[in-house]
Amino acid sequence: MATPTATRTTSATPTSFGPAVALSCRECGERTELGPKYACESCFGPLEVAYEFGTVTRERIEAGPHNIWRYAPLLPVSADVASRPSLNPGFTKLVRAENLGRELGVRNLHVKDDSGNPTHSFKDRVVAIAVEAARTFDFTTLSCSSTGNLAGAVGAAAARVGLRSCVFIPADLEAGKVVTAAVYGGELVAIEGTYDEVNRFCSELIGDPAGESWGFVNVNLRPYYGEGSKTLAYEIAEQLGWKLPEQIVIPIASGSQLTKIDKGFRELIALGLVEDAPYRIFGAQATGCSPVAAAWKAGHDVIRPVQPDTIAKSLAIGNPADGPYVLDVCKRTGGAVEDVNDVEVVEAMKLLARTEGIFGETAGGVTVGCLRKLLESGALDPDAETVVLNTGDGLKTLDAVTPTTGPTATIRPTLDSFRKAGLA
Ligand SMILES: Cc1ncc(COP(=O)(O)O)c(C=O)c1O
Ligand SMILES: [Zn+2]
Repeated sequence: MATPTATRTTSATPTSFGPAVALSCRECGERTELGPKYACESCFGPLEVAYEFGTVTRERIEAGPHNIWRYAPLLPVSADVASRPSLNPGFTKLVRAENLGRELGVRNLHVKDDSGNPTHSFKDRVVAIAVEAARTFDFTTLSCSSTGNLAGAVGAAAARVGLRSCVFIPADLEAGKVVTAAVYGGELVAIEGTYDEVNRFCSELIGDPAGESWGFVNVNLRPYYGEGSKTLAYEIAEQLGWKLPEQIVIPIASGSQLTKIDKGFRELIALGLVEDAPYRIFGAQATGCSPVAAAWKAGHDVIRPVQPDTIAKSLAIGNPADGPYVLDVCKRTGGAVEDVNDVEVVEAMKLLARTEGIFGETAGGVTVGCLRKLLESGALDPDAETVVLNTGDGLKTLDAVTPTTGPTATIRPTLDSFRKAGLA
């Protein structure tokens, strides 16, 4: 197993990481200097980026580029980041979802649609930040363990910045995910095993000479990677007119996105960029891989790992690294964690498509399905301003809807045939 805190020579300068000043342990709070490290030397807890922010104003942000780099003063990146090659993800649409809201009985609903990112999932955000760290640490190969979307985001980002990429996925992923990971020309390795086994393999590779100079965006670059998800929080607040939503529903795989959106909201409050108002965070899982929802419902604060069995493969992490922190966030904010089965996932994908013209992938079905269930159970307030995330594009998971979707009728090219089909 890798020595998680192994250091390497880097070209990091104090300005490479902008306002970031240290890595701090999420368990014991101990601080260590910024580097390609991801576990605390004292307690093996996960590390995250700590900052000393300067003055950040709404005006300065609004004058920035229409992508995540407008929030560079809040991220572990150098101030000139926008001038370097990047896929420039972010600033995706926040769609006012009146039709879906009407159907579900919620008055003020928005869909944050991250399928509009360069590789059609929110993973472009996290990878963009990890790439900056990889360049600073002089890694020559960009890598990851992935349930599909991350593999594509890494392949594309590496192509754009001129790094070699080699990504690892479970062998049973959807065809759309395999193609959209392979097309960028990097190496794609399918492993006969679950995502958790792929991830364990990657940890071993980091500790082996074979993996030297490899930056695994979600393993040895994880503290930086996670910060990319904060940009979802910033964008949502800015797009709502510099205010926090009262409720937000977020899908959970490793749980990183959910905990970092919370971190982003707290930063905005601390910096005075939004009013300090309460917000509630809700997590969404597929029943076939719902270790966090199961712990939540049982009132446990530890997560019992599961073997995934769901069509929502992008969320199929049986042993989520951020699971316990998700429980903390949902408890602290007055939220909850819910799950929906595969039939409900497909129904919700079609509901979102039919009502708002947004074709989300299975993860979006999980999130919208949980939104519906949380409203029905009374956990979500139908009168509160609510945001639901669609984190990926339905074109990547066509198989999920193919069996129940197709032509309304197949007719001959004659008016008679059309009339007989009963469509007039
Ligand atoms: C489409 C999609 N949504 C959500 C997630 C959840 O991300 P996290 O691991 O940060 O919980 C993933 C993770 O792979 C994903 O692919
Ligand atoms: Zn520690």
